[in-house]
Amino acid sequence: MKVIKVKNQLEGGKIAFNILSEKIAAGAKTFGLATGSTPVEFYNQIINSDLDFTDKTSINLDEYVGLDGSDEQSYRYFMNQHLFNEKPFKANFLPNGKAADLEAEVKAYDAIIDEHPIDFQILGIGHNGHIGFNEPGTSFDVTTHVVDLTESTISANARYFASEAHVPKQAISMGIASILKSKTLVLMAWGEGKAEAINGMVNGEVTESLPASVLQQHDDVIVIVDEAAGKYL
Ligand code: GLP
Repeated sequence: MKVIKVKNQLEGGKIAFNILSEKIAAGAKTFGLATGSTPVEFYNQIINSDLDFTDKTSINLDEYVGLDGSDEQSYRYFMNQHLFNEKPFKANFLPNGKAADLEAEVKAYDAIIDEHPIDFQILGIGHNGHIGFNEPGTSFDVTTHVVDLTESTISANARYFASEAHVPKQAISMGIASILKSKTLVLMAWGEGKAEAINGMVNGEVTESLPASVLQQHDDVIVIVDEAAGKYL
């Protein structure tokens, strides 16, 4: 893992964007994208660039079960607001949280990932070390799956909802096995709340108790942290 310490999210977002630009120049066409507050500046950099994405494909990590793409709390809506409305792509894939048959949706999403191997994956990290919605205890071998969200993730994400009771209890998430297939992974983290998870991910043992620790097994991972998130490194 290569660790880059930056002053703040703005500097980190610019560095992640520069890596993305290099990968595009080298032929990258498919991008794994993440939601949450962490990648917002990275998306701003993309929007403000003159890079053309109309021949590029994006595949997001996850979506809440039960939320339609028009729901303001859905990850589809978040991506439209923060990137896709401003920067058109050839195709933008996210799991369909409203799918009547979730198991069929999971299989369909795996097929999409197989058809579009990811060149560059952007990641945030949960306070408990989750990536995507792969919560502690998730097998490293799973591909796309339906997840029961942990209490800690529900309360961390409640800030986006009217109350904690409104946070969906399940999500569809790309699995760790799928995430590891990406050629390059860039994980960003800002703020002290992420410091322990970041330390465990970089310096701890590789364990399913801290899903992000699996990234130690990948040979092209760049971790971008601010001072607070990187304080134990
Ligand atoms: C959610 C998402 C993750 C994200 C995490 C951290 O759980 N599923 O992909 O990394 O939140 O969110 P934030 O970037 O807002 O701290």
